[in-house]
Amino acid sequence: MRVPLIAGNWKMNTTLSEATELVNKMLRELDGVENVDKVLCPPFISLAAVGELIKGSSIKLGAQNVYFEEKGAYTGEISPLMLADLCEFVIIGHSERRQYFNETGEIVNRKIVAALKAGLKPILCVGERLEENEAGRTEKVVTEQLNSSLAGVNSINGLTIAYEPVWAIGTGKAATGKQANETIGLIRRTISKLYGERIAQDLRILYGGSVTANNATEFMQQPDIDGALVGGASLKADQFLSIVNQTSEISQIK
Ligand code: 13P
Repeated sequence: MRVPLIAGNWKMNTTLSEATELVNKMLRELDGVENVDKVLCPPFISLAAVGELIKGSSIKLGAQNVYFEEKGAYTGEISPLMLADLCEFVIIGHSERRQYFNETGEIVNRKIVAALKAGLKPILCVGERLEENEAGRTEKVVTEQLNSSLAGVNSINGLTIAYEPVWAIGTGKAATGKQANETIGLIRRTISKLYGERIAQDLRILYGGSVTANNATEFMQQPDIDGALVGGASLKADQFLSIVNQTSEISQIK
């Protein structure tokens, strides 16, 4: 039985005071929702403050990125050791980082290795672009991303994968539950080939891309989908709470 996970990726949104306000709006109700892991991923500068607010609650904290070196002369970067002190999860290989910050498969791989070594739980993002999807290359692209991201990684204990088709991110044009479930099934089969069936069955694989309170149930009902990585809707307390509540309800009958 995989416990579903809903993570809010706030991206480059919220000042420190806005982050505090957003957490305070949903803290009590979010804390009370059972049968689902709830993770907030605010910007780096709000991690410590959000961490204080959720201390002692069932809500967990994640970062949106990490560098692969432990320390040193890397101006502006944040190391896995620094994060391990503050939070449990870290998003790695988000398509926005691949697209705007030239993160290659090799860089993503180094980040995964470093994060796992530091005891962080990476949320590894994979997903095809629109033109790749239209050319029928989804399977090839996603498999390649998995193979390169996980090269040399012997144990994926602590890892979560998020399937985020790039064409669905921030566009309001979500995949259908069936489409997402198919690709997530493919991801699970790829993990089974790499690490064995038992580990593949235990691995949580999320869907991300225009998830809202209106379509959350459609995704959560799918057998292979174990939660969501939510962008825009995670910045609205009522939307995020609704997604988490729907997930909790479905997880009890799934
Ligand atoms: P949206 O939910 O805004 O489409 O963003 C998805 C995403 O990129 C989460 O990481």
